Amino acid sequence: MAKYDCAIIGCGARGTHQAEMLQRIPEMELAALCDIDSDKLQEFGKRFGVTARYTDVDAMLADQPPDIAYIMTHPTVRVEPAVKCAQAGVKALTMEKPMALRPSEGEALAAASAETGCLMAVNHQRRYMPHWQEFRQSLADGCIGEIKFIRAATFSRTLLEMGGHMMDLLLMILQEADPMAVWATSAGAEGFQSPIEHYAPRQTLARILFPGPLEVLWVHSQDGVNTLGESTCYMHLEFNVWGTEGYAWHTQNEGWGYQRRGMAEPVGGPTSWWDDNEQAQVEFTRAVGKWIEDPAAEHECSLEHSMRGFRTLMGMCKSSLTGQPWEYGTPVADQDIDALQALLEQREG
Ligand SMILES: NC(=O)c1ccc[n+]([C@@H]2O[C@H](COP(=O)([O-])OP(=O)(O)OC[C@H]3O[C@@H](n4cnc5c(N)ncnc54)[C@H](O)[C@@H]3O)[C@@H](O)[C@H]2O)c1
Repeated sequence: MAKYDCAIIGCGARGTHQAEMLQRIPEMELAALCDIDSDKLQEFGKRFGVTARYTDVDAMLADQPPDIAYIMTHPTVRVEPAVKCAQAGVKALTMEKPMALRPSEGEALAAASAETGCLMAVNHQRRYMPHWQEFRQSLADGCIGEIKFIRAATFSRTLLEMGGHMMDLLLMILQEADPMAVWATSAGAEGFQSPIEHYAPRQTLARILFPGPLEVLWVHSQDGVNTLGESTCYMHLEFNVWGTEGYAWHTQNEGWGYQRRGMAEPVGGPTSWWDDNEQAQVEFTRAVGKWIEDPAAEHECSLEHSMRGFRTLMGMCKSSLTGQPWEYGTPVADQDIDALQALLEQREG
């Protein structure tokens, strides 16, 4: 029997995927839907057998407040429904990535979660893919000794699109470490043109410093040489990790592995977004229920984890604007992001 009444806000492509995955989780029942597009809402409701359909989130929360809300809209419609859900007593919610577009939005989400106790997670579902967990564990076990240098590369549309996933996975394999500083440069004002692009630079090259000897080369380039053989933009995600005792790697669809000094052959396994994405979304979703039962057992994709990455991405924008290193923890203002957009437009104009 279902334990949690769930609602989906945003019945588009990702909302459909979330609804399909909910069908695989007996303890969760899709009880309410919300979308401003009435035709889409009705069609979605019929397909998933949900009669509680709303075009307004306030009405949904007044009539049928869920235990868990899945906010599957674009990031321009993110903070407001999340804060409303939290204030209405929703126990937990997830939101699609990117979690926010501006520094103040990220901070507003963190404040709403802290004030209301609503548990929040960001849909960085790759964390639940088995090979990512094995990769993280192997590095934590010292498979290549102390990590000294990482190249993290993606080639899709903007800093906040695949960049959000890449930052999240980078901090995951580093055991949620706080960066110390970021020194970045960005290009591509057209990335600010629509919510689909997520209002962020098209390309960003950065050096990220962590405590100790660790440095990261961050390569996010729309126009760079892609992962050979990949055609879809979401599929370009590469990590190369050098340690004191060896080398490790993870490529989204070409496998992961490591080779330590003295090993005749590398050890590792396959990776496939296509094979693993659905199950990862199921595990991500199921973990929300477990989190409600035991808030101390934090969700892999908790807002707290995501905030570290989001602040670092905002710091990359600030550093790109000033040409100077940005120290982790230094506030970034919304106006800094607007100023970066203006600067990139001016350079290209
Ligand atoms: N985690 C991932 O792997 C992954 C993959 C693809 C996309 N995404 C992210 O998912 C998000 C949504 O993408 P999508 O492709 O599903 O978009 P979409 O356009 O298909 O769906 C968005 C839906 O939100 C609805 N909507 C808009 N305003 C609303 C409001 N005020 N209240 C309720 N509903 C509202 C729209 O009518 C639409 O149906 C994006 O941020 C995207 O970056 C994540």
